[in-house]
Amino acid sequence: MSLKTLPHVHLETFGCQMNESDSELVRSLLKQQGFVFTEDRERADILLVNTCAIRENAHNKIYAHLSELKAVKKQRPLVVGVLGCMAQNLKTDLADKEPIVDVLAGPDSYRQLPTLLATALEAQEQGLAQKRFALDLSEYETYEGILPDRDSGVNAWITVMRGCDNFCSFCVVPYTRGRERSRDPESILDEARDAAARGFRQITLLGQNVNSYRHGAWDFAALIRAVADQGGIERVRFTSPHPKDFPPALIEAIATHPGICKHIHLPLQSGSDRILELMGRTYTGAEYLALVDRIRCAIPDIVLTTDIICGFCSESDDDFQATFRLVEQAQLDSAYIFKYSERKNTIAARKYADDVPDQVKGRRVSQLVDMQRAITADRNRRYIGKEVGILVEGDATRSSSQGMGKTDGNITVVWDKSTGHPGPGTMVTKHIFDASAATLYGE
Ligand code: 5AD
Ligand code: SF4
Repeated sequence: MSLKTLPHVHLETFGCQMNESDSELVRSLLKQQGFVFTEDRERADILLVNTCAIRENAHNKIYAHLSELKAVKKQRPLVVGVLGCMAQNLKTDLADKEPIVDVLAGPDSYRQLPTLLATALEAQEQGLAQKRFALDLSEYETYEGILPDRDSGVNAWITVMRGCDNFCSFCVVPYTRGRERSRDPESILDEARDAAARGFRQITLLGQNVNSYRHGAWDFAALIRAVADQGGIERVRFTSPHPKDFPPALIEAIATHPGICKHIHLPLQSGSDRILELMGRTYTGAEYLALVDRIRCAIPDIVLTTDIICGFCSESDDDFQATFRLVEQAQLDSAYIFKYSERKNTIAARKYADDVPDQVKGRRVSQLVDMQRAITADRNRRYIGKEVGILVEGDATRSSSQGMGKTDGNITVVWDKSTGHPGPGTMVTKHIFDASAATLYGE
């Protein structure tokens, strides 16, 4: 790099765990080329924002953040780069709308970032205002050979496949992250061994559609078993699968391997067969419930969580009631419930009208949230009086006098530190004496 001093970079990440994991890749790629990372925005020459496009409120948060950066850029020369899904989805429209943006790079273009940023800095030193874009999606890019520069903590994210070929009609991901491709299992296992050697105690395998993982003779069940067999790792988790092809071999792996967490996040999206069809989900409500039954028969203490969208195009009261009844019947452990948000380029944006009034969407979300909260509190009360294994993560967010960790099923447990507080990464057993919809209380 021909720059006089080492450029300092400040990176902020919005969105899902996949974005957290991508930011770790970006850090690694840039550090290899001599960029220095700083937590202090005031010291940075380059501000990077890794963005999400999943719902309108994700966009709004990032626009608000960019307008905050406008004020910072007025005070001193800065290169501003927007990375990730929003950059990929809005492309140059985003740079036109936001004059402070100098660099755009989509999720498959991060190898180009060091060059893009170095040339943007040089141009800035020469007083040239030129925008630089890298927005090609790739059928092959899996960032093989780049060891992520991981955030500290007990958990290491490992991305095992990228992209999505499902094209659910509401979802922007196939357009922002491109086609499905799976990583070589040997390199995933190398990363798992490296994470264990660096002291991480949990691995979360990530993919937009993890049960589509395929590499030669390897499927996802074989992969997760092999990762869980590595020494030094207490727990392996994964997210997210699609209910349409949840294989018996994966249920068997979760049921029998003590290192694989008994938690499955299984997005339902809707309980109305008509809406599921419009969404292109390829299963019915009854098929989803049958899968839940099969999983619970094989793994009685499984924790099941889900995602639901309210107010998708043409969703009637009857459709919503079907969702409400299904959620009541399924008695899942918890749910993320969203208002439908039309996304640019998606099948639904092109084919269907976003015709459910916002107020109705909001009312349906509240009704479901209220019911699910009661179900969750009820499910959590099962643990009262039991001894539960916990991986300690650190202090509770609410109070530093409380410790915090997660059960195998990913439920948060807090305890008073005066009753004993081993360090992060330790496995402990706590007696649960109380439970709410969000938390178990241990001693
Ligand atoms: N509107 C609302 N929610 C959405 N999700 C995905 N796309 C949309 C959208 N356009 C939700 C789905 C998915 C979760 C990650 O986000 O429930 O499972
Ligand atoms: Fe993650 Fe999807 Fe948001 Fe991209 S659009 S950051 S894949 S949630």
